Amino acid sequence: MNVNDAIRKRRAVRNYTDAPVSDEVLDRLLRLSLSAPTGSGAQAWGMVVVRDPDKRLALAELIISGGAQYFITLRPRKDGVSEEEHAQQCRDYADKILGSYRRVPVWIVGTVVPRGNYPESMKDGGRDDDLMSLAFAMENLFLAARGEGLGTVPTTAFQRFEMDAVRSLLGLPEEVTPEIISPLGHPEAFPEGKPPALKNTFRSWKTLVHDDSWGALRESAEG
Ligand SMILES: Cc1cc2nc3c(=O)[nH]c(=O)nc-3n(C[C@H](O)[C@H](O)[C@H](O)COP(=O)(O)O)c2cc1C
Repeated sequence: MNVNDAIRKRRAVRNYTDAPVSDEVLDRLLRLSLSAPTGSGAQAWGMVVVRDPDKRLALAELIISGGAQYFITLRPRKDGVSEEEHAQQCRDYADKILGSYRRVPVWIVGTVVPRGNYPESMKDGGRDDDLMSLAFAMENLFLAARGEGLGTVPTTAFQRFEMDAVRSLLGLPEEVTPEIISPLGHPEAFPEGKPPALKNTFRSWKTLVHDDSWGALRESAEG
């Protein structure tokens, strides 16, 4: 698959089979991932590859639980539905859409490992650079995985609800943060196009491009 196709066909995959991913494929993906651009050449990142059956199930449970808490927080509670009913509906929904995470053969946890070589006055910028570098590495992984017929989904929000447990499960030192986590496995099917919730609201690229000055949109949102 060429790069354009991998970019076009990559989708957030939340439906997996339990088919294994070989060591050879996994190594190839990790090598490609970690050849991404890295601010100051610092390689201020680390990938935790979770394959141990107990650990990957425990991580899946934390992500599903975090997903449920995310939905409880973000999804509007319907009229006449109590808080407890709303919470249960969100837990059921998380289980329905993320339940196959329990059989995913591999999880990749992308961490920022602060480079520690910036002076105090540049520390904030350095942190942003490290996060961007990690995002590039993860996108490399997502595209290379798509090329191998494997699914991924960038996950940054769900783990925030279970941060202490994720840290403890993976033995992360205090300064290392699990910024982005993805399952890696064979999809039951790659979703076609954008998810239904986004189909009507997703903006065309032309409405996001400003020519020469801010505001000179290539195409207005209405047109
Ligand atoms: C920075 C970032 C954070 C995301 N966090 C989550 C997440 O916590 N859980 C999740 O299921 N999907 C997450 N996603 C996936 C998005 O929901 C998904 O990319 C978006 O709906 C567009 O779908 P597509 O990737 O198939 O184009 C995240 C994506 C990005 C870029």
